[in-house]
Amino acid sequence: MTTADGDGLLAALRGIVGQSHVLTGEDTTGYCADWTGRFGGPTRAVVRPADTAQVAAVLRTCNDAGVPVVPQGGNTGLVGGGVPRNGELVLSLRRLDTVGALDPHTPSVTVGAGVTAATVQRVAAGHDLALGVDLAARDSATIGGMVATNAGGIHVVAHGSMRQQVLGVEAVLADGTVVRHMTGLAKDNAGPDLAQLLTGSEGILAVITAVILRLVPRPADTAVALIGCDDPAGALAVVAAVRRVRPLAVEVMRAAGIAMVAEHAGVPVPLAPLPAWLVLVEVEGGPTQLEEVVGDRPSAVAQDAADARRLWQLRERHTEAVNARGVPVKLDVTVPLDRLGAFVDRLDAIVPGAISFGHLAEGNLHVNLLGEEATAANEDAVLRLVAEHHGSIASEHGVGVAKVGHLHLTRSAGEVDALHRIRQAMDPAGILNPGVVLPVRRPDR
Ligand code: FAD
Ligand code: MLT
Ligand code: ZN
Repeated sequence: MTTADGDGLLAALRGIVGQSHVLTGEDTTGYCADWTGRFGGPTRAVVRPADTAQVAAVLRTCNDAGVPVVPQGGNTGLVGGGVPRNGELVLSLRRLDTVGALDPHTPSVTVGAGVTAATVQRVAAGHDLALGVDLAARDSATIGGMVATNAGGIHVVAHGSMRQQVLGVEAVLADGTVVRHMTGLAKDNAGPDLAQLLTGSEGILAVITAVILRLVPRPADTAVALIGCDDPAGALAVVAAVRRVRPLAVEVMRAAGIAMVAEHAGVPVPLAPLPAWLVLVEVEGGPTQLEEVVGDRPSAVAQDAADARRLWQLRERHTEAVNARGVPVKLDVTVPLDRLGAFVDRLDAIVPGAISFGHLAEGNLHVNLLGEEATAANEDAVLRLVAEHHGSIASEHGVGVAKVGHLHLTRSAGEVDALHRIRQAMDPAGILNPGVVLPVRRPDR
């Protein structure tokens, strides 16, 4: 190899993954900008390994040359952690798309990091099972990316986030060392859990290459309803009611967001006049399960699968409808449920035009700042408000590069220092995702 910047590096990488899997120039375009168009930059190359051995060889080569690497899965991340910023090499894991053994007893399935959530759902459905985490980006989001971000999504109220689904992991450290703990045992306390350490690590500790995922029973019947409420207190009463049955999803939207989706996607709105707050609930069982939840509130209860899909579109198409209005500043926050009303009052005073929606049962609101409100000052004000209400400034999308400057609001100096030390131990040269999650430390520190 000549220099880290010279042809020697690319030639070495081509020797590992093959000529056609090292992309440069215009061929890298789709890998260099994030889903929202807010984050991204140039890359020296996109490298697409086919298996764990190739991932290890690529990382060893980059580590020896001191070349920074951005791991990338489906590139649906919303905080800029999976795209290059300053010419870093992109390591695309999408070709690691093998679906391995499904163990019907645990139940669980072994998959490569590049397998999409939709593929896992399809495979699991063939056995009357499901992946407990589901999200609107299911067709592109990869299991590696979902573990790396500890993705949440629409079923956390029933099954938890990715952290609760991961039973084993195979990963490659920055220096090319392969680490595996793939027993898939439901109980296994033989020391600290590597899979849990890597879950939510956003590509700064290791590159995930394979995962054993817990699967959950697929409900025989589900019922879906859209329920109108006057205010956050009304929405929280729905949460309390739905917890008395078997909730699968409890999602919240507001009138402005619903109107925006209806206009953007042409999805009919079943409630008129449109209530200020709307809660979409899905429960296990038939429509009778919803009777007490709905009570005498304005509501639309799905009569069939097509109805249910339409109601879900009103919720799931918020992200694309927001994007259609321009590049948003997306905030992904959680506040304790008993502070939600007070938080929203203050939020509405700061950014009255924001489009807010999210996962109500966890107090997780996605606050999208648009147009003139999409400023750094408003972002700062909202995140400080979250901290004041004892919330999280990075709920399910992660920290990425978007929230690094605000990490101190909800993580103590001691915690941040411990994270730096873990990172330093696992990636001493600091080649994996520099600037993501943690601020880059000067060498003398
Ligand atoms: P990428 O975007 O490629 O990467 C995300 C992060 O993971 C980056 O830091 C990257 O470096 C790292 N990474 C990727 N692969 C690996 C790997 N193999 N090893 C190590 N690090 C890796 N998120 C939710 O939590 N809940 C939602 O409900 C939700 N809904 C969404 C809806 C839409 C329409 C969109 C566009 C996004 C949504 N997201 C949601 C965000 C996104 O889908 C998740 O963060 C998802 O987990 C990212 O997966 P990915 O494969 O696209 O990862
Ligand atoms: C969602 O729940 O739809 C997402 O996390 C995506 C978003 O925040 O736009
Ligand atoms: Zn979400």
